[in-house]
Amino acid sequence: MPLSEKEILQWLQETDEARIQELYDAADRVRREYVGDAVHFRGRIEVSNICSRQCGYCGIRASNDTLRRYRLTREEILVCVAQAVKLGYGTVVMQAGEDYGIEAPWMAEIIRTVKRETPLAVTLSLGERSDEELQTWRKAGADRYLLRFETSDPELYVSIHPPAPGQTPNNHRIEQLIRLRDMGYEIGSGVMVGIPGQTLRSLARDIALFRALNLDMLGVGPYLPHPETPLGSRSVRPLPPGEVQVSNAEEMTYRVVALTRMVCPEANIPSTTALATLNAAHGRELGLQRGANVIMPNLTPACYRPYYEIYPAKVCIGETSEQHFEKLRKRVEAMGRRVGTGPGGRTRRVSSP
Ligand code: 5AD
Repeated sequence: MPLSEKEILQWLQETDEARIQELYDAADRVRREYVGDAVHFRGRIEVSNICSRQCGYCGIRASNDTLRRYRLTREEILVCVAQAVKLGYGTVVMQAGEDYGIEAPWMAEIIRTVKRETPLAVTLSLGERSDEELQTWRKAGADRYLLRFETSDPELYVSIHPPAPGQTPNNHRIEQLIRLRDMGYEIGSGVMVGIPGQTLRSLARDIALFRALNLDMLGVGPYLPHPETPLGSRSVRPLPPGEVQVSNAEEMTYRVVALTRMVCPEANIPSTTALATLNAAHGRELGLQRGANVIMPNLTPACYRPYYEIYPAKVCIGETSEQHFEKLRKRVEAMGRRVGTGPGGRTRRVSSP
């Protein structure tokens, strides 16, 4: 879509509500034209909340010692996978902290089992891992990998992501995404909206980067402060003169979802759980009406859900997977949309000459 970085910034700065509604309507039209009315459900399995990293915003960061840690067993994961098949999902997303106890051969065997015994697409979201591990999982049959780059502002990135031991302080996630694409994965990324210290200008750059990286999937959600993190209690760094802090309110997140659809018309874009956390009554629907075409219901066994607390008060931690699915299905159908079938990978339109 011919939206320049400058125009993206202008949209982020827009205050006229009628104009903003025009953007939402345009994003909804582009979504319908490129990816249709199907809403794809991806069953999310929160495999482990153990994490070796110290991201300044994240509730499962290594040094949060108020949290009970867990890692699902192979059998527990396969029960969730069977549930995904039963509920008619086309994809399972295995997500975890950067847990090096998730060893490559162990995960590879689980991926092979899922690919052999079910028609599901497998998406991994296991953080920054070595190329060797990523190759092993790709060979085992993993289809997609999610890794948000969080912000394209190098200074802000480094200030909230202490490097892993032996790593230089840099945003290594962007290079990893490119390598994942070369390995044959579909790749997904995204950012948080309203990180303390994030400016409208840098957010416009993030959205322009979505297009430059030609991402297949894009997840954006509001930053939600977690009290057990450094960023949860820190005041915003002073911004350079003329720069504006991004709001973490839902309206700004919808605007980013809509702009993301405009610049990446073919991408799969979820209406995120973080959005539903800000507005439990309508957040998911509004995301789906302003550019999104995916939801990622939680399949994690109910007893572990409270511990995957990347931010406080995540929605739906008290429901069974069936209840959660039924509720979401009804909500999608009430909007005049339908639940997608099959793996729902990226559909590439042949572009006209
Ligand atoms: N608020 C909102 N989103 C968060 N994430 C992590 N911590 C928070 C928070 N406090 C997001 C990050 C990460 C994804 C799994 O969850 O973008 O990539």
